[in-house]
Amino acid sequence: MRDAVGVGILGFGTIGTGVAKVLLRNREVIARRLGFPLQLVRIADLDTRRDRGVDLEDIRFDDDAAGLISDPRVDIVIELIGGYDAARRMILDAIAKGKHVVTANKALLALHGEEIFGAAAKKGVDVAFEASVGGGIPILRSLREGLAANHIDSLYGILNGTTNYVLTEMEQTGEPFEAVLKRAQDLGYAEADPTFDVDGIDAAHKLTLLVAMAFGAQLTYKDIPTEGIRNVAPVDIEFAEEFGYRIKLLGIAKSHTDPAGKPRIEARVHPTMVPADHLLSKVDGAMNAVAVRGDAVGTTLHYGAGAGELPTASAVVGDLMEIAREIQRGQAGRVAPLSYMPEELHAVDLVPLGELRARTYLRFTALDRPGVLSHITGALGQAGIGIESVLQKGRGLASESVPVLVLTHPAAEADVRAAIDEIDRLPDVTGPTRLIRIEEELSQ
Ligand code: NAP
Ligand code: HSE
Repeated sequence: MRDAVGVGILGFGTIGTGVAKVLLRNREVIARRLGFPLQLVRIADLDTRRDRGVDLEDIRFDDDAAGLISDPRVDIVIELIGGYDAARRMILDAIAKGKHVVTANKALLALHGEEIFGAAAKKGVDVAFEASVGGGIPILRSLREGLAANHIDSLYGILNGTTNYVLTEMEQTGEPFEAVLKRAQDLGYAEADPTFDVDGIDAAHKLTLLVAMAFGAQLTYKDIPTEGIRNVAPVDIEFAEEFGYRIKLLGIAKSHTDPAGKPRIEARVHPTMVPADHLLSKVDGAMNAVAVRGDAVGTTLHYGAGAGELPTASAVVGDLMEIAREIQRGQAGRVAPLSYMPEELHAVDLVPLGELRARTYLRFTALDRPGVLSHITGALGQAGIGIESVLQKGRGLASESVPVLVLTHPAAEADVRAAIDEIDRLPDVTGPTRLIRIEEELSQ
């Protein structure tokens, strides 16, 4: 048994700093749990001047990423620079040199996971990535181990802390989108390119990993129908409340079979109306939550901080500890990284969005003229879409646009889309209609 296991951090930004802080301040409890210390020996970042508020005595800190990867004292390389090219190169280089890797980089794994996990398996090293989904929540370990006995039926996740923070703050303070997003960036929640958060791409990256782990299904994130929160207006948040819902950006995945018995997966990311009394609707700020339903266990709910320095560092250091134990036992690859044996991961057809049947919230923008409501409801009726409620707020001049809100009965999305196309061509309709799906199963 070695006296210590050595680790090196690539990328001394928000999460890299958090990892250094946790390793230093919790070193004793970590050593008491492991039976040996985890030693932070090196850190590399492009910017070596900025003070991160961490005491780096005895820790080498420079801009030499290649040197860190080659350093014989470094057993585990932690990739926290983010992005694609450099991160991929460094991870593959570390694996080639026989180093284990811990990363929080869901964007990279959602695109190049197969290559990276394949290289690690060949070399007999581990790649751990708990921090890449759900921040500090150990959701991947739960799927891989605690829930491994189950057929997973469905999962619903608030998977992005930034957008949940933005929606919560817009609702509670009435502040505009841009101001709240800026604050989420300042708090270290957002991706380097925050459009990944706002447009749902980050949640789609995470859902790609969850779908593999839950169903053994190989998707690329680009296959997942994805819509972010850009088109959610304060008026939607207000009316959602009147109708008894809150709006959350959800990643949703369900297991299906087609009429011939072939497995299919429903996977989608979009703003969703969640019943106000459901636990997911009470998840606020940068918190995340994932509801997983398994055939044996029923529904389990996993909740915690979904982004930020220390919660994410908690997941990274948990991975380090697991790998360090394996290093001491001389054994890597205890559990398949994506929960299924690699040869059991298969491409699976996705259920097309048009086939979904859901109740839907529609916000039309129309001139406040006599007859406009009957034109809208008439077009919906002609498409066979039943209306549950209609709300028109604020009377304007006949020359002013007002929102007209409709809740539909369950209908096929293809029919709803066709009716919207028709309605958006009406002369009194002045802006594109917004659609937000209502997740009925969360009411049960
Ligand atoms: P960050 O604050 O931007 O930190 C990244 C650091 O890496 C920066 O200091 C950056 O330096 C440095 N860097 C970039 N390219 C480098 C290179 N070639 N060599 C050495 N250093 C390099 O990002 P972060 O928020 O810590 O996120 C890191 C990773 O964790 C990302 O994959 C992200 O998706 C993931 N993650 C983040 C969170 C969160 O809450 N922030 C949560 C979960 C997962 P410059 O600033 O000079 O470019
Ligand atoms: N930008 C991500 C989020 C970081 O806001 O959820 C955590 O993965």
